[in-house]
Amino acid sequence: MSAKSTIEAEVATTSKVMARKPKYWPKPGAVADNGTAKVISIFNQKGGVGKTTTTISLGAALAEFGRRVLLVDFDPQGGLSLALGVPVHTLAKEETVYQALMDPSTNVESIVLKSAVPNLDFLPTNRDLVSAEITLGQEIGGQQYLKRTLEPLKSKYDVILIDCQPTMGQLAMNALIASDEVIVPLQCENLSLHGFIELSINLDKVRNFLNPNLKLAGILATMYENKLHHKEVLTRICERYPDDIFETVIAKTIKFPDSTNKGVPITKAFAASAGAESYRRLARELIARGGAK
Ligand SMILES: Nc1ncnc2c1ncn2[C@@H]1O[C@H](COP(=O)(O)OP(=O)(O)OP(=O)(O)O)[C@@H](O)[C@H]1O
Ligand SMILES: [Mg+2]
Repeated sequence: MSAKSTIEAEVATTSKVMARKPKYWPKPGAVADNGTAKVISIFNQKGGVGKTTTTISLGAALAEFGRRVLLVDFDPQGGLSLALGVPVHTLAKEETVYQALMDPSTNVESIVLKSAVPNLDFLPTNRDLVSAEITLGQEIGGQQYLKRTLEPLKSKYDVILIDCQPTMGQLAMNALIASDEVIVPLQCENLSLHGFIELSINLDKVRNFLNPNLKLAGILATMYENKLHHKEVLTRICERYPDDIFETVIAKTIKFPDSTNKGVPITKAFAASAGAESYRRLARELIARGGAK
């Protein structure tokens, strides 16, 4: 067995957990024409479930497949920007997504930063975004501001991934209104399913009142450990949402926090690791399921 197939074999999947034959997601071909980006929010109201890690790692994997990818750091904690090596506290308001959000005359392209990975750019943020939470709720059309901000960038990218904060507030609402799809990272723990049911109700409300086109791209099991409790919860999710759960599962590994410390995505920091391979597999699955081109 080659080294590559060993890594592939290490990647967790729902098929393995459910003792089914693993699915095959083909390596995607080149994109015929760049642009008209699909916008995907990475969202869960629960904190610490792997939203930022998924945004960066999935984005980097899609970029490896030749997709032009823009990541939007839309959490005032600035975790995504930090994990890509930007000391966010040194950024002026004018250098962050806040500026483009609040002032439509801003040239948003001038705020976009390049990551260490080819094809992977990002819009940084910092604490200044906190004040947007209030302003967006007060201004007429405030819920559409991120959609307006991203519009001129859509022709430049194939995929735009938005890293959301863990609250169903004005920022998350802006992200969901600007999005075609949403990916929900979920840890396989007792209350996760309950949390997802609550989240589904909120997504339905967004669909009914604000963005009828919003689709659930999928639920992504993250930080999975090969122990009974995780298996039981994952089995329940698979039984209840067989069409919505991604077959690819992200296992728990120290390589994720380690790559954050290095300021680069896992696909670059530990290119041959199972963690990197799992997000490449997720990228292939997302494309094959029509969630990205
Ligand atoms: N598969 C994984 N294995 C091990 N650690 C992980 C994994 N995914 C994420 N982590 C770590 O768990 C922590 C939380 O992850 P992350 O920041 O991606 O979550 P989040 O949902 O964005 O959190 P928040 O709600 O605070 O924004 C980080 O330290 C990250 O490095
Ligand atoms: Mg985060």
